[in-house]
Amino acid sequence: MAGGLLDREGKAYTGVRPLLIQGAMKVETSHMVEQIDALEEYRLGEWYFAAGSYHGVPLAVSRTQWGLANAAATTALAMEFFRPVAVINQGTAGAHDPALKNFDIVVGRETVNISAWKSHFRASGMGVDETALDKLGVFAYDKDEHRFTQEVYHKADEGLFQAAIARKDFYTKGRVTEGVVGTADSWNCQVDRVLFLHDFYGTAVEEMEGDAVAQICQTYDVPFLTIRVVSNTVFAGDVDWDLAVGAALQEYVLAVAEAYMKKR
Ligand code: 5AD
Repeated sequence: MAGGLLDREGKAYTGVRPLLIQGAMKVETSHMVEQIDALEEYRLGEWYFAAGSYHGVPLAVSRTQWGLANAAATTALAMEFFRPVAVINQGTAGAHDPALKNFDIVVGRETVNISAWKSHFRASGMGVDETALDKLGVFAYDKDEHRFTQEVYHKADEGLFQAAIARKDFYTKGRVTEGVVGTADSWNCQVDRVLFLHDFYGTAVEEMEGDAVAQICQTYDVPFLTIRVVSNTVFAGDVDWDLAVGAALQEYVLAVAEAYMKKR
């Protein structure tokens, strides 16, 4: 038994320590779940998890639902239930870098919470300036300092990051780039706001889970990486997101997961 925790039906995870892959929605996870052998499904709270093997390597998949709170809660639960050896958070994202197009992938060199800031003081009647900010960061446990410390950026695990970069050529539906992934419970559709965030935080894309997962992974001292596929870009105008990118990304993530697990 990995963690000793039981799911809602009283079921324990009895497999070996897996690589955990997360996605917020069904379109971001079902393509992987369909390819898992000896599949077992679990419910922790109301959240869906699955585990089994893919090409001989142990994998767990978590459907987190949207947003930081869900991402953090499901990550902590998965830590206790599966005791994963590493975590890959993946899914769709919106471009901050004007050069990115739908189907392009960003391997997250770092994540940052783009809603963690402190605005400069303004007195009553002075109006709102959404750019007058100082970066604030969020708290995660630092194993060397033995306390929770505040960091703006969370670095990806080097081994996971290199495994993803090494499989670049596997993906043919767009470019595979590396960059900073920005996380917040918001969806920015104003081009000037997006350009401000791109400049201020150095972000390539925005999404709603990555940095929250990075925080929990650091606290548990488990390797973390986020990989995101562009499903929408304000630089193409006021157009809807393309959810077909979800399956394309999952194929690439499975290839990365297999390579990483076979090398460790
Ligand atoms: N802004 C924020 N989140 C986005 N997502 C895709 N595009 C964006 C965007 N432009 C992802 C989030 C969340 C869901 C809305 O899809 O991570 O899970």
